[in-house]
Amino acid sequence: MSNYLVHPASAVSGAVRVPGDKSVSHRSLMLGGIAEGVTEVRGFLESEDCLSTMKAMQALGVRVERTGEREVRVHGVGLKGLKGANRSLDMGNAGTAMRLMTGLLSGQSFDSELIGDSSLMKRPMERVAKPLREMGAQIETLQGKPPVRIAGGAKLTGIRYDLPVASAQVKSSILLAGLYAAGPTTVIEPAITRDHTERMLQSFGCEVTAAHGEVRLTPPSRLEACSLEVPGDFSSSAFFLIAGSIAQGDGLTIKGVGINPTRTGLLDILALMGANLRVVNHRSAGAEPVADIEVRPAKLKGIHVPEHLVPLAIDEFPALFIAAACADGETLVTGAEELRVKESDRIAVMAEGLTAMGVTSEVLPDGIRIQGRPNGPVFSGGNVDSHGDHRIAMSFAIASLRAAAPIRIADVANVATSFPDFPGIARAAGLNVELI
Ligand code: S3P
Repeated sequence: MSNYLVHPASAVSGAVRVPGDKSVSHRSLMLGGIAEGVTEVRGFLESEDCLSTMKAMQALGVRVERTGEREVRVHGVGLKGLKGANRSLDMGNAGTAMRLMTGLLSGQSFDSELIGDSSLMKRPMERVAKPLREMGAQIETLQGKPPVRIAGGAKLTGIRYDLPVASAQVKSSILLAGLYAAGPTTVIEPAITRDHTERMLQSFGCEVTAAHGEVRLTPPSRLEACSLEVPGDFSSSAFFLIAGSIAQGDGLTIKGVGINPTRTGLLDILALMGANLRVVNHRSAGAEPVADIEVRPAKLKGIHVPEHLVPLAIDEFPALFIAAACADGETLVTGAEELRVKESDRIAVMAEGLTAMGVTSEVLPDGIRIQGRPNGPVFSGGNVDSHGDHRIAMSFAIASLRAAAPIRIADVANVATSFPDFPGIARAAGLNVELI
């Protein structure tokens, strides 16, 4: 098992460039694979999760060429051109890949089976299977969990679906099936969630409109290959936004980060906590907005995180809990029960680690209450277990900036699912992370 040993460091400085966006990279392979023509993708995230999607698309008959560092070329086979894989498709640790592929495979003429690693095999899949069945798909799960078996040859019909949970994965899965359905598909969202699928579908020439919480897709006769640029992953930048806020030193500039407003809830939450952030040099990477973010040390204060920001910061809570521990007063997170069904139960696992580090917290069914300590070392140091969750491992690495003694973080191999060179980039910023 691989672990991190993180020695306390007190200051961070310089410029950081984080790797490509995971959500956008997954989607570039799926949509590129069913488009007509060759889709060039720049800034692609070469992480384990995206490689699971790449292997799955290859097994379905799509040629994917790696043309350079962070560059791939996807040779699309057209909407009807995928071929059945004669084996189970292993999506590794990637929930996004499994849920989106379930939608995509629902409209094919062949049978498919999706499996994953021990974490993914425990994650809920009925949230996608149920609406897809309403569209006419034939899907089986095992007590709601993978393996997901999809029978080919189903005739899909567009539906109007009211999402019971704010989930971009469920929305996207339905939209991908909608590409193969008779008639339009409409998804109604209870709260805004990331809209990368909608934006990218438009880049491929598909008619998708969004207004008043409703997303409507009209099935296209074809998708047209295009060139895509993947922005830096805002969720990977989150660790450095928190690092720059809680450490001493000059702060950090994070370059070329995606700032799609459906992803940047953490910026609003940190601003409410008193963080010193500046978003500069706005530009665009195709359909996605990009900027540099400057962060300087700040005295953070505890807040009740507004619930409407939860889906807009859904992957950033482990890192935010570290900031909360360094803030003056109490931070309260509610309306965040979805955190319990991520790569780990992120409320329980973070609370366990915070307790091990001497931080007081109270676990709630849908969130957590964290007692902050604004001055001096906050984390005692010692052992924490990431439970194989990449974002928990990286969050406790950032805690070393306010730790009294080294932190040993167990089971960190899955950092490679989203941020393969995290230790190197963190070291360049001033952290003292060692893989042991
Ligand atoms: C994702 C959506 C979110 C997020 C995940 C990536 C996506 O999941 O947590 O990391 O790419 O659509 P949910 O839709 O389950 O909230």
